[in-house]
Amino acid sequence: MTHPIWPLFDLRVVTPRLELRAIDDEIGAELAALATLGIHDPGFMPFAFEWTDVAPPQLQVNSMQHYWRHRAEWTPTSWNCTLGVIVDGVAVGSTGMMSKNFAVLRQFETGSWLGRAYQGLGIGTEMREATLQLGFVGLDAKLATTAAYADNGPSLGVTRKLGYAPNGVTRRLRRGEEATIHNFTMNRDHWQTNLRRDDIHIHGLEPCLALFGARQG
Ligand SMILES: CC(C)(COP(=O)(O)OP(=O)(O)OC[C@H]1O[C@@H](n2cnc3c(N)ncnc32)[C@H](O)[C@@H]1OP(=O)(O)O)[C@@H](O)C(=O)NCCC(=O)NCCS
Repeated sequence: MTHPIWPLFDLRVVTPRLELRAIDDEIGAELAALATLGIHDPGFMPFAFEWTDVAPPQLQVNSMQHYWRHRAEWTPTSWNCTLGVIVDGVAVGSTGMMSKNFAVLRQFETGSWLGRAYQGLGIGTEMREATLQLGFVGLDAKLATTAAYADNGPSLGVTRKLGYAPNGVTRRLRRGEEATIHNFTMNRDHWQTNLRRDDIHIHGLEPCLALFGARQG
């Protein structure tokens, strides 16, 4: 049965290898614990918001508050849909879609992470494809965007493999030093021609469409 108040709790995107699920408190706690085991080399910072520079147990507190905040601050004109990535019943990371004014712009940004034990196995590619499928099929988006630091090989690897178009660079401060971010876009035509899959299934989206500001029916 769909949750009577917050249908996003029942949203699922299922691929042959993994499932994307809304982050409830159980999955949130699993992800928070996973983050304490490390997501990246301590000498490297892949995230624009440097949340992994906080030590446990504050890291777990911040993680839970982050998931609650996304839910609490969600509006149809500004949302951050962060989903847990579940492989064989285990939360291995998260993938997020963010958008402002989706009803008009029909565009979303993605961001993601995996626990270190689950990196380099193709899961990142599969979860990005699942996220794009949710955006383009489920929400009828026109454009997806993504970005990564110039030295983030695996993230750029996924982006390049899927054929995103480069969209310039942004300079920003990372741990107090100058760093370069590469920006990318993917339009609906590219996704439809090259990436659309018939083995990724979306469940429970219809009752959520109004929350996304997406077309219904
Ligand atoms: C980014 C991330 C989600 C990617 O997931 P993943 O499961 O490791 O990625 P995949 O295994 O699906 O694919 C990575 C691709 O990048 C390639 N790659 C890895 N390191 C690379 C490097 N240094 N240079 C170029 N390509 C590289 C891999 O060869 C692979 O491509 P292939 O399948 O054609 O061989 C994951 O590595 C991660 O969580 N990293 C830490 C957090 C992070 O950086 N998040 C993104 C912030 S923008």
